[in-house]
Amino acid sequence: MSAFDVAAHARALLRDDPDGDEADAWLDLLYPSEYKRFRAQHATPVEVSRMAAAWLAESDGARVLDVGAGAGRFCLTGAITTAAHFTGVERRAHLVEAAREAASRLGADRATFLAGDVRDVAWTDFTGFYLFNPFGEHLLPDDERIDDAVAHDRARFEDDVRFVEAQLARCADGARVVTWNGFGGMLDGWRCVRRVYVRHVALDCLLRDRS
Ligand SMILES: C[S@@+](CC[C@H](N)C(=O)[O-])C[C@H]1O[C@@H](n2cnc3c(N)ncnc32)[C@H](O)[C@@H]1O
Repeated sequence: MSAFDVAAHARALLRDDPDGDEADAWLDLLYPSEYKRFRAQHATPVEVSRMAAAWLAESDGARVLDVGAGAGRFCLTGAITTAAHFTGVERRAHLVEAAREAASRLGADRATFLAGDVRDVAWTDFTGFYLFNPFGEHLLPDDERIDDAVAHDRARFEDDVRFVEAQLARCADGARVVTWNGFGGMLDGWRCVRRVYVRHVALDCLLRDRS
């Protein structure tokens, strides 16, 4: 008898588990066990990822960037539940390594992970952007951070937010942004086309529209 395939079961649940909680618990098994400590605060739950990814994947040939991808849970869920391509950029190398390993085990061929800063990416390559408050960790107390592998400070928070605003100001009409719990900045020339509250947090879909 063959061994139970954890990744195959997690993959099936990403599509089929109605509220996503079981899918989240099975996804945990694809990561180092210590990642469970910060999952609730720093990773998008499957329930939210599915909705956000579906909104960003609505146009043909959608290419989505997860800005600060963590261990890749949003991109993996998007790649398995939609037809779009998902790229995550993440500054913590160990999270990128874990994301790539999980993608390989899940067979999530349309999820790619880049190690580095959000400034290292060609933002013009993407039609949609996902932001789960990626720089908020700079403002948290030490014991609420993922780890101390990277430096944190308020000035860096401000710089990163301004950088994202500048990149999104260059997007063509029709581009989409989805935020969960915002990103700390303001967007001009973007229209909020959907808002739902999931787990008491706003999930917004904005459309680039300068008409
Ligand atoms: C709140 S977590 C979100 C993780 C993932 N997007 C999700 O929704 O599950 C934010 C992530 O952004 C990363 N991050 C913060 N600033 C970054 C930067 N300037 N460049 C790349 N990654 C960054 C952090 O290391 C952290 O893993």
